[in-house]
Amino acid sequence: MSADGTIHARGIRKSFGPKLVLKDVDLDIASGEICCIIGPSGSGKSTLLRCVNGLETVDSGVLKVNGEDLGYYETETAFHALSKKEIAEQRTRIGMVFQQFNLFPNMTSRENIMAGPVLVKGADRKESAKRAQELLASVGLAGFGDYYPAQLSGGQQQRVAIARSLAMDPEIMLFDEPTSALDPEKVGEVLAVMKDLAKKGMTMVVVTHEMGFAREVSDSLLFMDEGVVVERGDARAVLADPKELRTKAFLDKVL
Ligand SMILES: Nc1ncnc2c1ncn2[C@@H]1O[C@H](COP(=O)(O)OP(=O)(O)OP(=O)(O)O)[C@@H](O)[C@H]1O
Ligand SMILES: [Mg+2]
Repeated sequence: MSADGTIHARGIRKSFGPKLVLKDVDLDIASGEICCIIGPSGSGKSTLLRCVNGLETVDSGVLKVNGEDLGYYETETAFHALSKKEIAEQRTRIGMVFQQFNLFPNMTSRENIMAGPVLVKGADRKESAKRAQELLASVGLAGFGDYYPAQLSGGQQQRVAIARSLAMDPEIMLFDEPTSALDPEKVGEVLAVMKDLAKKGMTMVVVTHEMGFAREVSDSLLFMDEGVVVERGDARAVLADPKELRTKAFLDKVL
């Protein structure tokens, strides 16, 4: 299977019951691109990320992630459903980091990071432990392998969560408000890890309220409101000079 780090969506729609939450959303993310998504609460940002990650299925439209349709493949004559195993494999190539870390509370940092490779990919335990140690070091937590989540600060837990996602060698990383649950002084340490990743060429889609990060690190910025992509463009250009009134009104509130 190919895995090219791109995302292409055309006209995707998603409803929950009678409520249309994504209304013909288009999204184009190039390999290595950093895209920040901003918008008011309830505008559909998390739902969009969850669709890209395969946690939700879209009702209609085309969604290709890493050059593939999620959950099925297409031949000249028909659509074929992928097996559970193939879908799980597809999803390993898309990492997702949540506001609430979602670490396994009964596992140490090292075990959290090893769990995916060992349990999902059947990787060697010793190799995985070594890799976990390298990943911990890369997020500034070399000495914390034996700590349980409850023994770590929020910023440290979130860095372990990022390392855990990276252990699966994803081509794409999705972040849903990764710093929103953190004390202000812990935000910087998580953003630093994300900046590092961006420099390494990871494709990243980041739902965030951190406009400084958007301005400094992001290539593109996408503003969503009520399930619609209202505006999208070069991050610094949109922040400095939004074309749409709704974008401007939102930025006036948050900047
Ligand atoms: N599983 C679900 N069942 C029913 N409605 C849902 C579900 N998930 C999301 N919604 C609704 O879809 C809309 C968009 O929600 P979503 O979580 O995507 O917004 P958001 O932009 O991420 O908001 P926030 O900034 O508060 O995180 C909301 O009206 C929400 O209530
Ligand atoms: Mg959300």
